[in-house]
Amino acid sequence: MLTESGSQNKKVSVVIIDDDRNILELTSLILSRHGFQPYITSRVHDGLELISSISPELVLLDYMMPDMDGLSALQQIKSRFSDTYVVMLTGKGSEEVAVESIKNGASEYILKPFNNRNLIKRLENVLKIRAIELHNRELQKQQEQLLYEIEHWNLELQKRVREKSEALQRAQEEIAQSEKFAAMGYLSAGVAHEIRNPLNSISLFIQLMGQTTTEPDQLEYQAKILKEVDRIDSIIRKLLDSSRRTRVITSNVQINQVIDSAIEAFSPQIEIRKIHVDRLYRCIPSPITADPTELEQVFTNLFLNALDAMSIGGRLAIEVFEKDGRVIVRVGDSGTGIAMDALPSIFEPFFSTKNRGTGMGLPVAQRIARMYEGSMEVECSSSAGTIFRLEFPACS
Ligand SMILES: Nc1ncnc2c1ncn2[C@@H]1O[C@H](COP(=O)(O)OP(=O)(O)O)[C@@H](O)[C@H]1O
Ligand SMILES: [Mg+2]
Repeated sequence: MLTESGSQNKKVSVVIIDDDRNILELTSLILSRHGFQPYITSRVHDGLELISSISPELVLLDYMMPDMDGLSALQQIKSRFSDTYVVMLTGKGSEEVAVESIKNGASEYILKPFNNRNLIKRLENVLKIRAIELHNRELQKQQEQLLYEIEHWNLELQKRVREKSEALQRAQEEIAQSEKFAAMGYLSAGVAHEIRNPLNSISLFIQLMGQTTTEPDQLEYQAKILKEVDRIDSIIRKLLDSSRRTRVITSNVQINQVIDSAIEAFSPQIEIRKIHVDRLYRCIPSPITADPTELEQVFTNLFLNALDAMSIGGRLAIEVFEKDGRVIVRVGDSGTGIAMDALPSIFEPFFSTKNRGTGMGLPVAQRIARMYEGSMEVECSSSAGTIFRLEFPACS
């Protein structure tokens, strides 16, 4: 049985439209014998209705019809039923008509009178071509759908990249800002300390001078000097207060949590630059007495440098363990390493090998570590990377 490719049992339907009853009956007989399901009509209008209701695979259309000319009928069928293929039946000696039909969407033309074998062979050919073309059309539809989805994903991806980049930018600015604040705090603390010492001496000597004179003018001048000294002192105090982010509040802090929180702040950069972070927390260490915000600054500054030194896909490893009453943290990166001649200077304020470096990251970090009776040093550095080692006394 002749069936439509892809479906198991359904016969191929053919609508035959011809005003010659003999041709209709004969063609219908031939087609039935060869396994087709023929439908016949002698009017184009009825034919169009038939096509609309049964959606046949093929139409055999006579070119010369009384109720509509063949070309118009062909155009209507092709424009309304794109899956129905049309074979034109034309009289002998009308090759021009045949060419015109093909131009207007007919798949084949058959010259009347035709013989059985010729008819069936040509119809089978048209069916083969139809199957291939429909399959192609389906593939094209799928391709268009895929292209549409890819385009959609592309836009979604671009949106996500943009959002991530913005988040990264914000995080970077916040971190850079916090490093600057910390640096400013320590700078002013240092300067204040340096100024307050000589200021104390001035105040002391003026008071001594006051005890050795009874001259009213002298006493008045000395009182004025002392007042100015107090003014300078209060200016310095205000400067100190404003540059400190918050007052130092120490508590017993869990260093693993402090490190986690510092890493968290870098997570956009870590993700985008595909940095592998290894947290090698060997134990839950004893707490450390410190201000957690300040302690986090130590790791923030270290991670900033590590990220600067590493390219995409680098590795940042943080190891924590406890030994002889000290909590030890090793921060290792797979970056460029520190040049031998730079090594002795890296903890000096303002020493930087970067174009836009402040040179305050490491000195501030080391100062904070020392403030809590800890230490910070480079354990090793080579072209394979750098390891910083920090030690803090554990709270007992
Ligand atoms: N992990 C590291 N890998 C390579 N070089 C580093 C690393 N950490 C610090 N350095 C070097 O030490 C210098 C000082 O660091 P830092 O005080 O943080 O200042 P900055 O980062 O502003 O340059 C850096 O410019 C860099 O040359
Ligand atoms: Mg730095």
